[in-house]
Amino acid sequence: MNRRMAIKQMSGLASAVLFAASRVSRAAGFQAPAAAAPAPVAGPFSVPALPYAYDALEPYFDAETMHLHHDKHHQAYVDKLNAAVAGHPEVAGKTVEELVANLSAVPEAIRTAVRNQGGGHANHSFWWLTLGKGGAAPTGELAKAIDTRFSSFSGFQDKLTTAATGVFGSGWAWLVLSPAGTLEIETTPNQDSPLTLGHKPVLGIDVWEHAYYLKYKNKRADYVKAYFSAVNWDAVSAKFADGKKAS
Ligand SMILES: [Fe+2]
Repeated sequence: MNRRMAIKQMSGLASAVLFAASRVSRAAGFQAPAAAAPAPVAGPFSVPALPYAYDALEPYFDAETMHLHHDKHHQAYVDKLNAAVAGHPEVAGKTVEELVANLSAVPEAIRTAVRNQGGGHANHSFWWLTLGKGGAAPTGELAKAIDTRFSSFSGFQDKLTTAATGVFGSGWAWLVLSPAGTLEIETTPNQDSPLTLGHKPVLGIDVWEHAYYLKYKNKRADYVKAYFSAVNWDAVSAKFADGKKAS
């Protein structure tokens, strides 16, 4: 065997080995290990675990979006908030809700970071708890209050949908309790929290593209429609009752 034939034979053998290995891998369902996720930034704040499985809100909110939204986007807000408050023990001792409710008390050097990253942490922590499959519509005191303020549940849905689809760019649409104790619909840009305005959130719709683009692409209206099938109305009613007690 000359040199050229030997190289050709070795090359053929290597290809056969690789092909066989690839078949074995596929047959065993083998997947290349994912790159290790970066460790969370240590600090006083952490992402709360979801109170349900990642696929619990299917088919309205898909599991992949829930993973990205909770594990990556929310984690990023928390990481940046922890980095911002490092070296500020007077801030680190407060809850994120206390911080965004009184931004003027936050040192100016980190106020914007707390507004954006702290707002992201507070808004998402609230958001996860108000999702679930808890009935098609509110009941009890919240149902009465919605009917009184918006004429009907469908009237409320229409107004909230208009607010959510009308947010320019990234932000949130909310049902809140005003300082006077009335139900209001409002929007906030970016990660601004209703708490900063002195309002108590009852429910909210995250209309950042990261919340819906994988499944709904640019069809925000379809995502907002689906949202109404993914609300935990028991949890929302509890937020309403808590807000009423505190007002
Ligand atoms: Fe989000």
